[in-house]
Amino acid sequence: MRVGILTGGGDCPGLNAVIRGIVRKGTMFYGDSIIGFMEGWRGVLENRFQPLDIDSIPGIIHRGGTILRTSRTNPAKYENGMDKIRATIQNNKLDALIAIGGDDTLSVAKKLFDLGMKTVGVPKTIDNDLSGTDFCFGFDTAVNIATEAIDRLHTTAEAHNRVMVVEVMGRDAGWIATYSGIAGGADVILVPEKPFDIQQVCELLKHRHARGKYFSIVVVAEGAKIADDESQSTQAGTRDEFGHVRLGGIGSRLANEIEQVTGYETRAVILGHIQRGGSPTAYDRVLATRYGVQAIDMVHRGEFGRMASLRGQSLTSVPLSEALGSNRKVDPELYDMASVFFG
Ligand code: F6P
Repeated sequence: MRVGILTGGGDCPGLNAVIRGIVRKGTMFYGDSIIGFMEGWRGVLENRFQPLDIDSIPGIIHRGGTILRTSRTNPAKYENGMDKIRATIQNNKLDALIAIGGDDTLSVAKKLFDLGMKTVGVPKTIDNDLSGTDFCFGFDTAVNIATEAIDRLHTTAEAHNRVMVVEVMGRDAGWIATYSGIAGGADVILVPEKPFDIQQVCELLKHRHARGKYFSIVVVAEGAKIADDESQSTQAGTRDEFGHVRLGGIGSRLANEIEQVTGYETRAVILGHIQRGGSPTAYDRVLATRYGVQAIDMVHRGEFGRMASLRGQSLTSVPLSEALGSNRKVDPELYDMASVFFG
């Protein structure tokens, strides 16, 4: 078969391991010929690709980023975008196209499938909030990076009797905040799912001080909202081609308010793209490899319009529509458990 691959949306540690899995099994086991489109849907629109064979993949499993590069290009925003994509698929005589991405990238794969093209999806987001799967690769790496940062901030917070507010990624769901907050022993964790009251946060910190703990760590997801002001803090007014604003700033806003209300010296730290860079963890390398092999197997089983999915310990597939309905929110039971350690 002739199969195309692309990586779209924000990059994510483990993308290269998925590519490696697809290429290894596709070429060595099925005898496929595989091409990789450059920079997400932009490469498909512009018919820019590179052949991928067994010589393309050595030494990439541990590398972050993506050898195919990526973009947030939305074909629907371009004149005759979907027709151009169909033409690229036909001109390259592709039997299938595998899209590795989050809800935006996969929404295009779903549209193409609805228009009669043979697409397969692989779930990717460090935010871990795609429905239809239990875990996305890249999340574990982001959690480990954030946890290490929290560990480091603990010692400097303690040395200075400071409150440290750590802003982590998580647009619509607070998975990274919750996991890294639990693992790092945070004193307060704030997530988009639960708008928070600043006075209550300050009460928790004062309670800690009253117990003789003169430093605190607050982990806040970038998409977290203040209860009486449900807008998200943003960095720039512009939107990407899928309509998303650039989030950021809730950490600094919260740090200022905490300092004003409590009088405790407070600093904000934004982890930002550090969470997405560098080598994937062993867990993410294994999960991403499994997703890649599953995706090429799905192509050969004719499971189109579907996404590779992890359910419990097993790989399976679900319709793309299942992944796209709504974001997968943090389990309220897990968050309640985390709150045992607040204050
Ligand atoms: O969707 C993943 C994500 O990392 C979000 O957590 C974050 O808001 C966004 O991407 C940042 O995107 P960009 O790389 O375009 O700044």
